[in-house]
Amino acid sequence: MTVRLGDTAPDFTAETTQGTISFHDWLGDSWGVLFSHPKDFTPVCTTELGYVAKIKPEFDKRNVKVIGLSVDSVESHVKWEGDIGETQGTPVNFPMIGDTDRKVSDLYDMIHPNANDTTTVRSVFVIGADKKIKLTITYPASTGRNFDEILRVIDSLQLTAKYKVATPANWTDGGDVIIGAAVSDDEAKTLFPQGWTTVKPYLRVLPQPNK
Ligand code: BEZ
Repeated sequence: MTVRLGDTAPDFTAETTQGTISFHDWLGDSWGVLFSHPKDFTPVCTTELGYVAKIKPEFDKRNVKVIGLSVDSVESHVKWEGDIGETQGTPVNFPMIGDTDRKVSDLYDMIHPNANDTTTVRSVFVIGADKKIKLTITYPASTGRNFDEILRVIDSLQLTAKYKVATPANWTDGGDVIIGAAVSDDEAKTLFPQGWTTVKPYLRVLPQPNK
């Protein structure tokens, strides 16, 4: 199944390292990050899961729940978690799905047979509090992900859900933002009484509204 931006995140029930989870119920009112890794006991994945565990407080701050997945079993994940804690300096503090029957991997199209027909690629899905898919990215097995970038996108998504703005290239929280293209100057005067800089009629820049 192809999962696209704006789709409702497919719901599922799965076994995880923290017990059986019904995905939508588990998310509750939170945002979510669902990410897959190709295989347990592999080097890049070990560093990725350790890093996510380290920055989990940053996800918590943003009201985002994190969950990992591979087609290995929960028992395998639990054994591997020992190595991750030992080598990465942080215990794994979020659930990992044991997707041995590939149910969730197939629902989210995480197995790309021309890359590898038995293991998941490095997929990331950001899911909003409305259960809609907000971001999808796919990395190859050989490239560890930049999870600071995922946090950056979540900051942008949460900001632009509240204000009629967009964020420019390489924006980070606190940087200048752009008035959305669909907002007329008249509407912008009401929305942003503090004013803005018109670089071009289609490029109107202002300080981040909630800072
Ligand atoms: C790794 O995590 O190091 C890895 C996993 C599968 C294929 C290649 C690398």
